[in-house]
Amino acid sequence: MTGTSTTYASNGERIYFTAVSSSGTPISYSGGFFSGMGRLTCAMCHGPGGHGGSTTMMGAIVQAPDITWPALTGADPDMEHPPYTDQTVRAAITDGVDPGGQPLDQTMPRWTIAPNDLDDLVSYLKTLQ
Ligand code: HEC
Repeated sequence: MTGTSTTYASNGERIYFTAVSSSGTPISYSGGFFSGMGRLTCAMCHGPGGHGGSTTMMGAIVQAPDITWPALTGADPDMEHPPYTDQTVRAAITDGVDPGGQPLDQTMPRWTIAPNDLDDLVSYLKTLQ
């Protein structure tokens, strides 16, 4: 998953799978349940296609939601908050808040990522169907 021989079609895809941007900058996270666990990647929890699912990490079962773009931005009557937009997806990734202003569960790390890398990551999420 983190092999240097792997090539990615975009910087966003690279970040999703490796938590390292094309410039070599690691995308770090802080706080949360998995604080100090070392390298985590979006794909580890949300799956290679972004469809989510459950993973066992450090003995805990993590239920990660579907973060394909239609799932994030579609109107879902069961959702407790408005659909995501570009701006609120960014806030979910960096600040761990949903579009209703509620904090996400602590099993979702809070990410520190440069604005241009975040743009690329969000562009990549838009390709997930
Ligand atoms: C350790 C597991 C884990 C990792 C790693 C992780 N997430 Fe999450 N993520 C979660 C969980 C669990 C939730 C749901 C939190 C909740 O329900 O409050 C979540 C929620 C989200 C949401 C909000 C979805 C929604 O329906 O509200 C987005 C967007 C998201 N993650 C994107 C990312 C991105 C992008 C990355 C990589 C930079 C990432 N996540 C890495 C576990 C993870």
